Amino acid sequence: MLSPDIQQQLIAIRRDIHQHPELGWQESRTASKVCRVLEELDLPYRCNVGETGVVAEIAGQLKGPCIALRADLDALPIEEETGLSFSSRVPGVMHACAHDGHTSMLLGAAMLLVRGDPPLLPVRLIFQPAEETTLGARRLIDEGVLDDVAMIFGGHIDRHYPCGTLIVTEGAVNASSDKFSLKISGQGGHAARPHEAVDAVVVGSLLVIALQTIVSREINPAHPSVVSIGRFDAGSAGNVIAGHAHLEGSIRAQDPVVRTELHKSIRRIADSVAQLHDARIEVAIRRGPPPLINSDDMTGLARTAALQTVTRDKVIKLSTANMGGEDFSYYLDHVPGCYVRYGAQIPGREGYPAHSSQFDFDEDVLGIGATYLANISRVAARSILS
Ligand code: NI
Repeated sequence: MLSPDIQQQLIAIRRDIHQHPELGWQESRTASKVCRVLEELDLPYRCNVGETGVVAEIAGQLKGPCIALRADLDALPIEEETGLSFSSRVPGVMHACAHDGHTSMLLGAAMLLVRGDPPLLPVRLIFQPAEETTLGARRLIDEGVLDDVAMIFGGHIDRHYPCGTLIVTEGAVNASSDKFSLKISGQGGHAARPHEAVDAVVVGSLLVIALQTIVSREINPAHPSVVSIGRFDAGSAGNVIAGHAHLEGSIRAQDPVVRTELHKSIRRIADSVAQLHDARIEVAIRRGPPPLINSDDMTGLARTAALQTVTRDKVIKLSTANMGGEDFSYYLDHVPGCYVRYGAQIPGREGYPAHSSQFDFDEDVLGIGATYLANISRVAARSILS
């Protein structure tokens, strides 16, 4: 059981960070807060890793590869509307994705590991900037944070599940998240004489409808995927036919093969619609994080650690496919690991999802997450040494 004093400290850290949220690559105050706690624990650390990241190391009883634990530091450009006493003091910026909680939890894991017997193998604590931009993990990997790492673990607070549950699931637990843009070039003209123009609004509208058939008609429905258009800019006046239109969207998939199919279909349909109407359509796809796929063996270790943390009935699986992206998947391109979710629902507030201005979570999750992270580092080390 977690001592009440650590739980209180974790709540205080979370609330302090929550009041002072910082966007990706700007997390300097948050990073200094992390460094202060690490100093109190007498742990060596490096700051300014990949701009604003912090990486600390807890020595092991043995030399050898280390077990990495990762938290994210950044907030979102959202105006907070929770009414909480510790609401954001920064206009237009809010911790609406629980990264304040993740940072506090990882510091809690450090407190637990420092208090108990030293870990068998070294434990590396990675406080990553800029998860929301999906660029933070890659930057830290380039900075070498995975050097000598044997396995990496992390997790996300989730208000879909009751507080006290740990959600440990084999397979895809987050989707790939790619962005695309479509630039349509037609021919502008007078609204009264459409035959002299190539109407980019009509071409764009057809394209939006045609793209909806990729997921509904081309992809196996057993493999969850999404193609969403979130932006459609065109035109300047009601009596002018627009010569240009610009569309932007998001592509999600849980399976790397499906991801490739979605990209191909978008290009094919854009080419066909362009030809159909004698327009030009430029397609640009920007790849984001790949799907986050937990392997069976790493998930087995995570489940062992979860069962050491909460009772058996509280260790559950994802109840539904999750199409959100998470840049933790980049780490798993390099080393094995597992990503779990920490149930943190506040009864009555289920309707306020992550990234909403009213998002909040049950702070009891902080101690549970800290305990799980400490436990998984020990379980993982034992599995390597056995
Ligand atoms: Ni998040």
